[in-house]
Amino acid sequence: MSRDWRRILGAGLAAALLTVTLATCEDDTVVGLNGRFLNPFNGQQIFRFETFANEPFWTDTLRLNELIQSSVSPRVALSLGLKVDADTLPSGFLSSADLDDPATTVELIRRGAVVGIVGEVDESGTLVRVGITCALCHSTVDDAVQPGIGRRVDGPANRDLNVGAILALAPGTPDNLRPAFETWGPGKFDARVFGAGTSDGTNPTLIPPAYGLRGVNLHTWTGEGSIPYWNNYVAVTQMHGRGSFRDPRLGLDIIVPPDLDEVTPRLPALQVYQLALPVPRPTPGSFDPAAAERGKAVFEGQARCATCHIPPLYTDAAGYGLHRPEETGMDPRVAQFSTTGMYRTAPLRGVATHPPYFHDGSAATLEDVVDPYDRVLGLNLSPQQKSDLVEYLKSL
Ligand code: HEC
Ligand code: HEC
Repeated sequence: MSRDWRRILGAGLAAALLTVTLATCEDDTVVGLNGRFLNPFNGQQIFRFETFANEPFWTDTLRLNELIQSSVSPRVALSLGLKVDADTLPSGFLSSADLDDPATTVELIRRGAVVGIVGEVDESGTLVRVGITCALCHSTVDDAVQPGIGRRVDGPANRDLNVGAILALAPGTPDNLRPAFETWGPGKFDARVFGAGTSDGTNPTLIPPAYGLRGVNLHTWTGEGSIPYWNNYVAVTQMHGRGSFRDPRLGLDIIVPPDLDEVTPRLPALQVYQLALPVPRPTPGSFDPAAAERGKAVFEGQARCATCHIPPLYTDAAGYGLHRPEETGMDPRVAQFSTTGMYRTAPLRGVATHPPYFHDGSAATLEDVVDPYDRVLGLNLSPQQKSDLVEYLKSL
């Protein structure tokens, strides 16, 4: 059967089976969540399960499968910030499973329950292939069962995920990169270490949320380009999927024959899904409405925040939106490794839900955001104005 036929038949079949297994989960039939057979028009499936055929890198090069099989028990996986989608598991599975046995992790992967990890397990229970998806970094779970285990939520950055530690432990990681990876800590990734290799791995940034980007035209902390541009860049150069990507600014001209390109045909649906992701809303009682109202006046007045964070998007990146590091007192290092040399005004909706802040996580809390602005911009805010401003930020 030709590849195209396999793909067309596979897509329909897998979509049908996926719905069945993911929805019922009571039986033992597990669909290999192999990205090749996903529906290219279902952005959610792509975001969650598509590896873009990046298994050769994560399996043959990094040998992540060997690491998981030999030493990543579910307990270790959770401590590395990996998340478990409880909805894909039969009832009673977790209570009877040995959470100290890596074989349980392999079984979780076989069932598609480890968020962002897609693997193939052979009959002897060996994890033979493994790949990663967007959800690894840009999804989490609601912790309904226990911390790290619950219902899947797409969009929030996984700020617990220690990508650096995982990369440092993988047997195939080049030794010269290990020390840098070990320094990242949770919630960070250096999106310039692979591919063009413009960074030596010492410039990680926080994983940003994937929601709240509708109308924002410049993406990433440094405003590299549009959503499809960045999705394409990440899928090909960082996740090592099989696809074409070109950027003269980076000297990258990666071409694969169109019928082997697993990335380009999926970009439209992926973007639509991202733009449709809901922004978390503040829960009642999570901020003081009267103080927030006063804080709004500070935000738009004396504090001058709205000159860059323009409501209702709370960014100026619908148009220009790029600022020299010294304008906001940012560490210039990451900008220096970017194509723009600047930082994009971060959109602020749902901001209270994702500390720490700024591209490098240098502000632990919203209070820590306001203090440096007060200094750098010479705002002379009173303690009351600062706390009102924080309440306003919590309300966005
Ligand atoms: C290993 C973790 C990781 C994976 C996997 C990953 N990302 Fe990201 N993503 C990041 C980091 C880190 C950044 C910030 C990069 C920067 O600004 O330099 C980012 C930035 C983004 C942005 C820009 C957000 C904004 O605020 O403008 C989008 C959109 C995005 N990723 C989508 C995706 C999609 C879609 C995929 C799958 C094709 C994906 N990412 C896979 C870590 C990851
Ligand atoms: C000159 C333009 C400019 C002004 C004025 C400005 N900001 Fe920002 N803001 C930015 C940029 C650029 C970033 C991203 C910095 C980075 O990535 O490190 C940012 C980031 C932030 C973040 C972090 C968002 C995140 O996702 O981590 C918060 C919160 C924030 N600003 C609040 C404020 C407040 C409050 C004010 C007023 C006191 C303000 N900003 C004034 C440009 C500005």
